[in-house]
Amino acid sequence: MRKIYVFDTTLRDGEQSPGVNLNTREKVEIAHQLEKLGVDRIEAGFPAASPGDLAAVNAVARAVKNATIIGLSRSRQQDIDAVREALQGAQDPCLHLFLATSPIHRQYKLRMDKQQVLENAEAAIRYAKKYFSKIEFSAEDAGRTELDFLCEVTAMAIRAGATVINIPDTVGYLSPYEYGNIFKTLKEQVPGIENVQLSAHCHDDLGMATVNALAAIMNGADQIEGTINGIGERAGNTAIEEVAMALETRQDFFGAKTSLVLSEIARTSRLVSKLTGMVVPGNKAIVGANAFAHESGIHQDGMLKEKTTYEIMSPETIGLKESKLVLGKHSGRHAFREKLIDLGFDLEDELLNQTFAKFKVLADKKKDVTDEDLLALLEEKLVDT
Ligand code: KIV
Ligand code: ZN
Repeated sequence: MRKIYVFDTTLRDGEQSPGVNLNTREKVEIAHQLEKLGVDRIEAGFPAASPGDLAAVNAVARAVKNATIIGLSRSRQQDIDAVREALQGAQDPCLHLFLATSPIHRQYKLRMDKQQVLENAEAAIRYAKKYFSKIEFSAEDAGRTELDFLCEVTAMAIRAGATVINIPDTVGYLSPYEYGNIFKTLKEQVPGIENVQLSAHCHDDLGMATVNALAAIMNGADQIEGTINGIGERAGNTAIEEVAMALETRQDFFGAKTSLVLSEIARTSRLVSKLTGMVVPGNKAIVGANAFAHESGIHQDGMLKEKTTYEIMSPETIGLKESKLVLGKHSGRHAFREKLIDLGFDLEDELLNQTFAKFKVLADKKKDVTDEDLLALLEEKLVDT
């Protein structure tokens, strides 16, 4: 089974979510949990962004022993030096250098032509190589870069000493077919590509971050980058838990796996949500409150007979106790009866039918019928009879 490396950027791209600001203690707490989750690489921050972030990256670098610790840097010496300082004490440091390559970024942001982009990136990588053996180079906005130029940039980065080449779909623009094709083309056309790892970094502007990461894997990517709960700039990044569980659940199709400790997923998701203040939507894949909850009678009946009727993965895999059968107006008699048995009431058929009828009237008025509601109904009914 092919191993896919996991590069977690919750503490850097994830922290770029509007309104999120993690202090040093919070970053270290999340980094320790990411270590338990078994991510291979942790991007701890952008040291040149502020003295506070430099200090936080340094604290993570010193605290975490079982993952590569990465600092982000623009392609300039001061930024590289800030990462050098921040990663002092790291067991396994890595520099993440980036420079934009797309025509839009070249023209409006950088005011550089192609040659200048190549020269600037090369000078930065060569300078960094004096201090780092591991360097990831990202062609920012690779998704909107001419493919022949992206091949040229990649070849230059490999010659200059990069060890990982990252292909960011910075603005979440590409379809899975287009994104996958970039990886296929780089693999076929760039000399020396077999000596580096290829990485996928996707954003979710069009809701395609997970599927694009999977398309990259199918076309030869060795690493996926993303965040817990998919937090990040604008609509966020690839949700790591989604890719990991897609690979796990559909091993037959993808033939690749991460080495994450999947049973730590739920705990990691809760911690990130608590410390960032970003609430996980109920219907979020894998970690949303409803991801393993069933409300309709037909589904509940199927679940009570055999869980695989309506669950393609088990909640225990990600560290949750059990699936939930939520009682509402769509629920059926089977789930209702099981719920009452759980509460300690095994009613005879006639009484069950009468209580069920009362429950349906209540469920029409209320979104969620709680255990307390059921106990009140039972009390009423038992007094009547
Ligand atoms: O989305 C992006 O392009 C980035 C780079 C800094 C890798 O986050
Ligand atoms: Zn990004």
